[in-house]
Amino acid sequence: MREAVRGGALPGAMLGRMQSAVTIRDGDPNDRATLLEFHRALYVDHQAAVLPAQEAALVAYRDFERVLRDDVDGLLRGGAHIVLIAERGAEPVGYITGHVEREPLRVCTPKGVVEDWFVVERARGGGVGTRLLGALEARFRDAGCAMMESATWASNRGAREAHRARGFTEIQVVFRKPL
Ligand SMILES: CC(C)(COP(=O)(O)OP(=O)(O)OC[C@H]1O[C@@H](n2cnc3c(N)ncnc32)[C@H](O)[C@@H]1OP(=O)(O)O)[C@@H](O)C(=O)NCCC(=O)NCCS
Repeated sequence: MREAVRGGALPGAMLGRMQSAVTIRDGDPNDRATLLEFHRALYVDHQAAVLPAQEAALVAYRDFERVLRDDVDGLLRGGAHIVLIAERGAEPVGYITGHVEREPLRVCTPKGVVEDWFVVERARGGGVGTRLLGALEARFRDAGCAMMESATWASNRGAREAHRARGFTEIQVVFRKPL
């Protein structure tokens, strides 16, 4: 097979499909280390890359490693959160999490809320994020949701574009100033 690939015997489209075959599955407690790694990549590395230092200082936690661990444990406790993992072959390449919120006094209820959405850098731009979001959206629809929400930093321009590309409209602005 390897020789066939090198020799170009496989049609390009078939080769592309083999390389990009991604599956989406539910996360479980065995994924704790993977989720912790992804959570750190999203909330430490990516956040540092997109959030200006003076803004980061205003929302910093005292013991962020502990916060990350507690958050992942909460995600995996079951029940409240939907946790989906994207795998290329056996390699985890991204995750998305969310939950369903019910507000009986509102007309539009329940609603789906996206919590974390992340794809490893080397796998971005190939539709993995779209697959994850689509799978979460399907869960929200199954739960009877008529709409879904997601939030990100104003300075996270790539994510804002990705949300727009997937049909979201920006509807809220949060103001903050240091005192
Ligand atoms: C946001 C993210 C999950 C998208 O994953 P991905 O696998 O790259 O997404 P896809 O390849 O499915 O692209 C989805 C759409 O968004 C667009 N898009 C994605 N990243 C983009 C960027 N940085 N700039 C502009 N458009 C972008 C794509 O062009 C595509 O639109 P199209 O289908 O009209 O071409 C990924 O970029 C990521 O992990 N970013 C860092 C973490 C983050 O900011 N998460 C979101 C905030 S919680």
